[in-house]
Amino acid sequence: MALGSLSRRAIVGLGRNGGGGGLGLGLGFVRGLQTFTLPDLRYDYGALEPAISGEIMQLHHQKHHQTYVTNYNKALEQLDQALSKGDASTIAKLQSAIKFNGGGHINHSIFWNNLAPVQRGGGEPPKNSLGWAIDQQFGSLESLIQKINAEGAALQGSGWVWLALDKELKRISVETTANQDPLVTKGSTLVPLLGIDVWEHAYYLQNVVMMQYKNVKPDYLKNIWKVVNWKYASEVYEKESP
Ligand SMILES: [Fe+2]
Repeated sequence: MALGSLSRRAIVGLGRNGGGGGLGLGLGFVRGLQTFTLPDLRYDYGALEPAISGEIMQLHHQKHHQTYVTNYNKALEQLDQALSKGDASTIAKLQSAIKFNGGGHINHSIFWNNLAPVQRGGGEPPKNSLGWAIDQQFGSLESLIQKINAEGAALQGSGWVWLALDKELKRISVETTANQDPLVTKGSTLVPLLGIDVWEHAYYLQNVVMMQYKNVKPDYLKNIWKVVNWKYASEVYEKESP
């Protein structure tokens, strides 16, 4: 199949800026191919305790996010080879791995930015224009939090719950996505202000000694607000809704 001048990033669909503009997604090069790297956190793993344990943060970042990055790069390398051979069936086959792992990388890069230690402003309510927009559309911050928690708790299987800005309609809304689908799959004009990971790996911890499981999604959703970085969400809101 002739590929002509078809852009590789158009095929990938989740290119280096796709849905993640301004996030500081780590980048590198291997054999001339642009690759993605695990971004550093801006705080220590234990800095969000007691809201989120350091052990969970370390596993989540070093194991889960790293795996998305590794598999994303692997799929992109396979795509590059398939493109050079004009292998259309392999190109089509790679789409789900690219969406899943690329989405995992984008979503987690947002998630780390959405959290901050209490000493550095974590949990401080949004002020200025985002605070005003929340009051206008949801009545109060507490009402918005209740809605996000209810939708996150009700999400079947794994996924994400978002506070989104629709740049075109100039409205904020609560959205959910399944698996690692990034918010942009719900609408091309949606910008993530806040993304909360409701995969079990975000709050689930196997206690090897006791052979017991802690699996308390509602508690996780209740406590995460103590370390939400509203300053970051406000900055994105102000940048994207001039
Ligand atoms: Fe996660």
